[in-house]
Amino acid sequence: MGHVDQKTRRIKIFDTTLRDGEQAPGFSMSTSAKLEMAHTLAKLNVDVIEAGFAAASPGDAEAIHTVAQEIKGPTICSLSRTKEEDIRCAEDALAPARHRRLHIFLGTSPTHRDAKLKMTTNQVLSEIERSVSSARGRFDEVEFSAEDAIRTERAFLKEALQCAADAGAHILNVPDTVGYTSPDEIYELFRDLNASITRSDDVVFSCHCHNDLGMAVANSLAAIRAGADQVECTMNGIGERAGNCALEEVVMALKTRQSYFRADTNIMTQELYGASRLLADLTGQAPARNKAIVGRNAFAHEAGIHQHGVLEDRRTYEIMTPTDVGVPSNELVLGKHSGKHALKARAQTLGFDLEADQLEQVFKAFKNVADQQSEVSDSDLCAIIAGDDDGSGWEMLRVEMRLSVETRLRPFARLTLVHPERGRVCDIGTGSGPFQAVFQAYCSITDVDGALEDVVIRQSSGQSHADVRVVADGKVFAGAAADADVIVAAAKALLSAFNHIIRARGVSVQALKGAA
Ligand code: KIV
Ligand code: ZN
Repeated sequence: MGHVDQKTRRIKIFDTTLRDGEQAPGFSMSTSAKLEMAHTLAKLNVDVIEAGFAAASPGDAEAIHTVAQEIKGPTICSLSRTKEEDIRCAEDALAPARHRRLHIFLGTSPTHRDAKLKMTTNQVLSEIERSVSSARGRFDEVEFSAEDAIRTERAFLKEALQCAADAGAHILNVPDTVGYTSPDEIYELFRDLNASITRSDDVVFSCHCHNDLGMAVANSLAAIRAGADQVECTMNGIGERAGNCALEEVVMALKTRQSYFRADTNIMTQELYGASRLLADLTGQAPARNKAIVGRNAFAHEAGIHQHGVLEDRRTYEIMTPTDVGVPSNELVLGKHSGKHALKARAQTLGFDLEADQLEQVFKAFKNVADQQSEVSDSDLCAIIAGDDDGSGWEMLRVEMRLSVETRLRPFARLTLVHPERGRVCDIGTGSGPFQAVFQAYCSITDVDGALEDVVIRQSSGQSHADVRVVADGKVFAGAAADADVIVAAAKALLSAFNHIIRARGVSVQALKGAA
């Protein structure tokens, strides 16, 4: 165990969002999207960016070349088979990078050798020897991955890794390609490899875990405890099948439990949430609401007992602060599970100091509303307290949208609303898509300078349910609606959000205090 000591170790973060993550269905990215993500990964301060697999396609080679040209800081890496033409392709693609790594992989397990490669163990060893020796000296670093290492016979895995180390590999990666192992098992494996492979001090072990049984992060942490100095991971845990080890989770586990793991990373954790959001925007795939660290619920509390605890001292139900990972603040979501403590506190921030009997009354009305909708927004609460549900807002009369696929005409929407005081108003909005165009028309009719933060559409019982979040006046306003048609549901959800914004603006705290 020459590589493990008792002081805090720096674990290298090898990010493969743009390679293993990008190759999963639904996550492919253009060169410009990869470049934008790579800038964010550099800001996050990852040690290595695996930007693609140069020989896989001319597009992948171009993306690696662009990332290599533009990104300063992290080492830039390309995946490669053992073939000489792959190594050459990667060499060309990585040429502009300041620090270049080649990542050679070859299947070592019996299934991979027999079914895929049709190679004997001796042939596998000679391929490793030939390719690593050829790459050594042409790149700053060479990494060798024994693909499907976990299902490889232990003795042969050691032979393969020893062969790579002897041929000059600087990083020995031990992938759990099919997400099959468990924490105890991988811990024992890394201890054994660490003790058995003869290598110079600058050769490190790396883990690369897939999430098929939901253990990718736990397995990676176990491998780190057993001596792995590099962890391969992706933002939001994207990747083949059930994904890879999630970068944000492994990084925050090391940071939060540093004295247990005696290890940390160089990651700027405050950038995690932004990086997660950017990836979701670029791929159109948001992480699950309950996703650890970066999901919308990661720092949200709705249950009354939890809200009470967090209001007294956030450490009762939070082990990290939201700002540690770049989430602006924790969120006490008002819903049917919320209690009086949270309601009173929220009312206070809105300017209402509710006496005990007022609180009882408002709490009753609040529970009735909460039973009907999943979240009660600030403006809903204002309306409850002020008894302001008098149909004074905008109503939607008509929405027409145009989306032209063949021509270059910008999508537009014509929106007609009616208001008890302003009457009928019609305006046109344009945007990158028809929904953006409707959003812009709402902004212009209602004089709201807003930004669309989130749109979630669900289908159930033949209805489309739309939930939107709009940022305006420094706050987030939610809107929800359901309709048989998805477009109408989304447009109505916007209407409810804009009515909330306007109601919140129009509510004078003094008047409301009087009304309450
Ligand atoms: O999962 C895997 O085995 C891989 C290798 C190419 C490292 O992604
Ligand atoms: Zn993988």
